[in-house]
Amino acid sequence: TAPLRVALLGCGTVGGAVLRLLDEQSDELAARIGRPVEVAGVAVRRPDRHPDVPPHLLTTDAHALVTREDVDLVVEVIGGIEPARTLLLAAFAAGKSVVSANKALLAEDGTVLHAAAAKADVDLYYEAAVTGAIPILRPLRESLAGDQLRRVVGIVNGTTNYILSRMAETGAGFAEALAEATELGYAEADPTADVDGFDAAAKAAILASLAFHSEVTAADVYREGISAVTAADVARAAEIGCTVKLLAICERVAAPDGAGESVAVRVHPAMIPTTHPLAAVGGAFNAVFVEAEAAGELMFYGQGAGGGPTASAVLGDLVAVARNRVAGVAGPGVTPYAGLPARPIAET
Ligand code: HSE
Repeated sequence: TAPLRVALLGCGTVGGAVLRLLDEQSDELAARIGRPVEVAGVAVRRPDRHPDVPPHLLTTDAHALVTREDVDLVVEVIGGIEPARTLLLAAFAAGKSVVSANKALLAEDGTVLHAAAAKADVDLYYEAAVTGAIPILRPLRESLAGDQLRRVVGIVNGTTNYILSRMAETGAGFAEALAEATELGYAEADPTADVDGFDAAAKAAILASLAFHSEVTAADVYREGISAVTAADVARAAEIGCTVKLLAICERVAAPDGAGESVAVRVHPAMIPTTHPLAAVGGAFNAVFVEAEAAGELMFYGQGAGGGPTASAVLGDLVAVARNRVAGVAGPGVTPYAGLPARPIAET
């Protein structure tokens, strides 16, 4: 049978891990999908920096690659808004399904991208964009699609969870714990996106959009980071049986004017009782706690970052999208944001 051909956009830590897994597991994947998967090309900015990739696959022309006739699926792991946005829209227009790990883009333009995918009758999956290896977006889109969600509360940033956990364990101050996180490679050289809550806010917007069938963008999310949390705050929390966590909280609330409901989304440090399941999430781990009407309470826990864990989520999406391709269908999309309005930040 003819192989399914994949265009890979970006080849950093995650892209490299995706290529390795596609190669190592090619027989398994072919059996699971029903057709072999082949890499059609890898778009990168600097081909000379990728000596491990077969040279004939490398290209700097990502646009030509995603629109090529022999490409069936596009995997985007470049991140950032542009050129990713233009490339994904070009891929949809050319009838290709897309797997993306791009939280910034989905948090800003999810509505437009979902509409473009729906119009082309192709798939858009992005499990890797939120909490790495932890399956949470497809459970929200699919497994829980028949339930009513009340609240989704997550520890969705590993760097800040590591810092807060170390502060609790050692009594260190914020600056000291951050230095340790940087040394171990958790925090970036510029840790602003993690420490100030921007990374968590983008993930919260995506979670809220899917959980409440709503259009929530990162700009709708109230955001506070952890740089003002002191050793004294952490010690005081412990004294009263609590632990400090940076939480992403997405919930259904009464609309400000009392007419109907809306979705309120916020990211800030919070004290939670040590008996709450989220309090046990230590180190750089992530977890998402879901409260649903019929299902009750659920928790999803695991590794929220790193090449292997993130590549696992990308591959899972790739298999789902490839199976849909083989079956000649587009998978379950999302209700294109017909649900509750996002509540403006000022009123949260
Ligand atoms: N910087 C992120 C974190 C990585 O610390 O969780 C994945 O988005």
